[in-house]
Amino acid sequence: MTDILAPTFIPLDIEMLASAEGRVVVLSEGGTRMDKGARRVNRLTRGALARLIESEDYAAKKPGEAVELAWPSGMAGEAVQVVKIDRKMDAAAARKVGAAIGKTALGADVLVLAGSIRHTAEIALGAMLRAYDFRDHKTGEAGKAPGGSLTFAVTNPEALKAQEADITAIAEGVFFTRDLVNAPANVLTTTSFAEKLEALSALGVQVEVLDEGELDKLGMRALLGVGQGSASPSKVVVMQWQGGRDGAAPLALVGKGVVFDTGGISLKPAAGMEDMTMDMGGAGTVAGVMKTLALRNAPANVVGLVGLVENMPGHEAQRPGDVVTSMKGDTIEVINTDAEGRLVLCDVMWYAQERFKPAGMIDLATLTGAIIIGLGHENAGVFSNDDDFAKHFLKAAETEGEGAWRMPLGEGYDALLKSRIADMKNVGGRPAGSITAAQFLARFVQEGTPWIHLDIAGVASRSDDCDLAPKGATGWFVRALDRLVCDGYEG
Ligand code: BES
Ligand code: MN
Ligand code: ZN
Repeated sequence: MTDILAPTFIPLDIEMLASAEGRVVVLSEGGTRMDKGARRVNRLTRGALARLIESEDYAAKKPGEAVELAWPSGMAGEAVQVVKIDRKMDAAAARKVGAAIGKTALGADVLVLAGSIRHTAEIALGAMLRAYDFRDHKTGEAGKAPGGSLTFAVTNPEALKAQEADITAIAEGVFFTRDLVNAPANVLTTTSFAEKLEALSALGVQVEVLDEGELDKLGMRALLGVGQGSASPSKVVVMQWQGGRDGAAPLALVGKGVVFDTGGISLKPAAGMEDMTMDMGGAGTVAGVMKTLALRNAPANVVGLVGLVENMPGHEAQRPGDVVTSMKGDTIEVINTDAEGRLVLCDVMWYAQERFKPAGMIDLATLTGAIIIGLGHENAGVFSNDDDFAKHFLKAAETEGEGAWRMPLGEGYDALLKSRIADMKNVGGRPAGSITAAQFLARFVQEGTPWIHLDIAGVASRSDDCDLAPKGATGWFVRALDRLVCDGYEG
């Protein structure tokens, strides 16, 4: 488990700057203007700060970029980090400023001279989100918790303390998702995943774990078919957060939780197969959102359902050509056992609607390689049967800086799923692979249910650093979904 670097907010006292050990962070627009904290740092360093922020080099920097004065004379600290800001910056820019701080914060005592700069809570959140390092499987020094501290010296500590619980809730949710997505598949099995979700009950989430016997009784043969080649039992975990009005229809979040995707009998090539430890990214995101909602005690009703399975080859595995009957009753010809995510989701989505009659349903899945071909690692694919719902989601994602791009649906694509011997096939061929996958899911959306499908295959885990996350799991859409709930489902 990766601990968040929780911030503290204290009143600004410039007398402590000379002796502050660790890192001191100055936020500056550049030019000659300096606030109280910066002026003191400048005096202590005998003008070094002024030379830096008045330089052409600093003028050319973008908000969020940083320069370091290492081992400054006149100060006890190991570095003064100067981060470029724009005093009129919005929340997103403030988070980038925070990310510059967080990137080098782990293991250090960091003192940020924030004074009365706007969006300080967002700066703190950016720093927390970026100060993530997955060490669960390192030993020795590298495996130790990094320690350190993150202190903001501000004009009004009380105002910031009031926002602390909310930003901490977000960071905790995102870290939960990242830890799940980063975990290897021998560690995060369907069973240990379900156990980690059960632990959310300590936060007031009602958690139920449905086992294979129960899933069989419910008729989830599409989901069970995917997991039948694995020694890990398939499970569906239902998480209910009832912070809203009694009886008010919930928002349903449904996640694909394939703890490892070998492709099954339609085996994937060896190169890169290790990446399929992240094929539970949808379920991981749902889990993170539920944690955030519970931690901030959100006044909304939200249910999270995840299908946890492992897609393995073996003598009991499902074969290409098998026909399975979904919980809905429709039959599916499994042309390719590697198109397993949709087989898992269709049953969980159907169950979510039958049981909860949700006001809206959003499924999240690392569903197709094709979405990476289309959108790369910058945007997730957004598919929806409801323009208004999609618009609200896209707005929330944009505000959070989590790339999301609307993709089309249509009858022509749906027709590609026609099967000779069953009600549908599980694949529609190479063209428009992400869209035919979405069309498949659309067949399991009930009349009148506003629905969004998020294909997060390109964004759940990345091989490069991004603004608010290091390489690896990103926690993409934990924040957008939390915001969607906050803006549309509360009160
Ligand atoms: N889990 C994969 C999709 C994936 C690919 C996620 C790369 C993350 C990175 C999914 O189950 C899959 O195998 N999809 C197939 C579908 C095909 C067989 C129709 C794909 O995309 O190739
Ligand atoms: Mn697959
Ligand atoms: Zn998969």
